[in-house]
Amino acid sequence: MSDRFVELSKSEHDRTSFDCGQEPLNTFLQTRALRHQASGISKTMVLPADQSADAKHLIRAFYTLSSSVIERETLSPADAKKLPRYPVPVFVLAQLAVDSRYHGSGLGKITLINALCRCCSIYSELPAYSVVVDCLDSNAESFYSKYGFSFLCTANGRNRLFIPMKTVQQLF
Ligand SMILES: CC(C)(COP(=O)(O)OP(=O)(O)OC[C@H]1O[C@@H](n2cnc3c(N)ncnc32)[C@H](O)[C@@H]1OP(=O)(O)O)[C@@H](O)C(=O)NCCC(=O)NCCS
Repeated sequence: MSDRFVELSKSEHDRTSFDCGQEPLNTFLQTRALRHQASGISKTMVLPADQSADAKHLIRAFYTLSSSVIERETLSPADAKKLPRYPVPVFVLAQLAVDSRYHGSGLGKITLINALCRCCSIYSELPAYSVVVDCLDSNAESFYSKYGFSFLCTANGRNRLFIPMKTVQQLF
């Protein structure tokens, strides 16, 4: 099976059968991802399964990227002092999930690497300070911490983690 991520398409991908075990992520993919993409506020990339004849591709994993800003006061004093006093741009890893049938087979790691690689490509044309992710629960937090994300602040009742783009660039 291919490990190539492609942009979510209504006609090509079967959003309804995706189930990662987390309702908010399933619902986002099923009801909002395409609308947000059409509005130009985020982009969702999916890893399709091989297609059976005349059927849509099942989705093995997906992630959604958008952009936002953070205030330098949320950073440590050492990091904050290098930044301006106005809000600084960041990439937001708004969603990332693997269908439950594929959990534990390395797809979470592959999906995260693909998302960070995409941020690196965008960064070369349009820099941003870091990638941030708002974690649904402590499981998500331990997953991202494993790959170098650190606590930034609490946002919308969730723990927001971040990884500086300078660090991401060194990884790739
Ligand atoms: C979190 C999630 C993406 C992990 O996907 P996965 O395909 O099972 O993960 P992988 O098989 O690629 O595992 C990669 C590594 O992360 C670790 N890992 C996986 N899930 C983890 C978790 N919940 N907490 C901590 N570590 C985790 C694995 O042990 C593995 O480590 P190893 O390489 O040292 O063995 C998946 O469980 C998922 O989609 N969960 C529901 C949605 C969700 O919570 N998304 C997080 C964004 S809010």
